[in-house]
Order: sequence, then C-alpha cells, then structure tokens
Amino acid sequence: MKKIAIIPGDGIGKEVTREVRQLLDVYRRDAGLPIELWDLNLGADRYLSAGLTMPEDVLSTIGKDCQAVFLGALGDPRVPGHEHARDILFGLRFGLDLYANIRPVRALDDRLVPLKGKRAEQIDFVVFRENTEGAYANIGGQLRRGTADEVLWLRVFREVRELYPEIESDHMYVDALCLRMVQAPEEFQVIVTNNLFGDIVTDLAAALQGGLGMAASANVHAANGEAVAMFEPVHGSAPALAGKDVANPFAAFLTTGMMLGHLGWPGEERRIESAVARAIAERQCTPDVGGSLGTRAAGARLREQIQRSFQGTPVPQG
Ligand code: IPM
Ligand code: MG
Repeated sequence: MKKIAIIPGDGIGKEVTREVRQLLDVYRRDAGLPIELWDLNLGADRYLSAGLTMPEDVLSTIGKDCQAVFLGALGDPRVPGHEHARDILFGLRFGLDLYANIRPVRALDDRLVPLKGKRAEQIDFVVFRENTEGAYANIGGQLRRGTADEVLWLRVFREVRELYPEIESDHMYVDALCLRMVQAPEEFQVIVTNNLFGDIVTDLAAALQGGLGMAASANVHAANGEAVAMFEPVHGSAPALAGKDVANPFAAFLTTGMMLGHLGWPGEERRIESAVARAIAERQCTPDVGGSLGTRAAGARLREQIQRSFQGTPVPQG
C-alpha cells in the first residue's frame, strides 16, 4: 500500500487537486490500485483561521509514513507575505531534502507549440533543477565567497562528464540557454541547472509546451524511489482565475502521472499522458489549450477516457 498526502493549497490549486483526487479515487476503486489518500487541510484558509502553516508533526509523519505528496499550488492575496506558502512549499522541499526538481517539457500537440515552424516532437526535454540551495535558501550571497569558484558547479560538471563519455554534454550560460531554447529547442534532451535559473527557464520551457496549464513537476530526494517525493503542477494558485472553473487541470493530471510512475506504475504515467494528448487533439480541454470546457468538465472527460482504457490495458496490481 502506498500512502499519498494531498494538499490542495490555495486558489486554482484547490480546483485542480479536486480533479486529481477524483482520478486517484478512480484508480483506487475501479482499478484496485493499492493507494491510500491522506487529505491535509493546509493552505491560506487554515493559516488564517487557525494560524497553522506546516505543523512539525505533519511534516515528520509525511517523511515517515508517506511515499508521495501531491501539492496543488500556494498563494493567496489575503496573505501578502506568503508565510504559509513558504512554510508549506519550502517546508516540504527543504524539510524532506527534495533536492532535485524534475520538470519534463514535452509538447503534446503541434498546436500548442508557439514557435514558428516547430513541431511538437521538437519539444521534448527534461529540466533538472537543484531545489534546496541558492537564493531560495538565503545563501545566494555566498556565491564565490572566499574563492572564485565557491559554488563549484563547473568543476563538478567537468568531473562527472568524464565518468560518462558516452553522454554528449555541454556547459552553457543561462542567457545563451534561453536564446537557444527558443531558436532550437530540439537540441536539448536534458538541462541540469541551479535553483533560481531552474525556476526561470522552466517557465520559459512551459511556454514551449502550451503554457503553465501543461507543465508537470516532481520534487525528489533520490532515484531509488524509496524516499518520499512531492509532486506539484508548475502553475501557481492564480487568484484571478480562482473559483471560475477555467483552470486547466491537465498539468495536475500529468503531475499525477509522474507520481504514479514514481510509485512504481510507469504504465500509468504513459496512460495519463496519452489520454491528455488525445483530449488536446480532440479539443476536449480548457480554453488556454484551445478547447471550451471548464475545469470540471475537462477533468471528468479525461477520467472517463482513462476508465475506458482500463478495459484495454489493465492496471498492474501491487
Ligand atoms: C516554482 C514556483 C516557486 C519557485 C515559487 C512559488 C516559490 O515558481 O515552483 O517554480 O520558484 O520555486
Ligand atoms: Mg516557477
């Protein structure tokens, strides 16, 4: 049994998480997937009503008992200092030492690619963003402290590339990277970068795949799949869109796919991604990606399609 903590968060985070929760229920009920869901009522509402952000005991229980956390999005205009968001998001990332933020960038339809003359198949790479250091951990000021190469990125890159001569690799400065990502995105398969640059280039990358409504992410500690990992769609809480049933739930579904893949069901990641690609192709989606459905309707259509596909390829148990 795999235990998943669910934190809807704020704004459209709550709306897309509601869709994800129903999808996980479909998996549990109709496909017999051995998952247990733990709903955590954390976010701006809880902070404003009870003063709670991320209680210590909750964080340690997640670390001990859960295999995954799904986080909707955080941010609420009633909390202008974002203190609840900081405690919850950074509490999870830093507190559980989820040092790698993995963001796949795959365009699922030619129509979603904004670059003239580029096709979906030319946008297919993954960004690995260092997730616990840099300006985000208040150590940005230590860059080059003491010696010229305090941060050591280049030296480590050169050492590691020597170990894998079969992998073609190149160092790029972030400004040149942004230029190249737009001119020739097909050149990239994997980008490894630091926390702040990773934040910036993954929003640029999201634009290449159809916008933030299509961008998924995983925050992980290790590749062995044993430590708890946290999964969040890249979009924020978008207060201006909240409560209007217009948020695109697909980033959250693709993120759920990554989560199920991480938990040991990689076939489900592919199943969810194909269902999303098909929904986009058939325009059974929200307006940001060319459809006319609301969040709930787009979510319901996608779940129906996944349910139907269980007849074709059954979900592996255990
Ligand atoms: C992201 C977000 C966060 C980040 C913000 C909300 C702190 O932009 O996950 O990309 O920069 O890490
Ligand atoms: Mg960001």
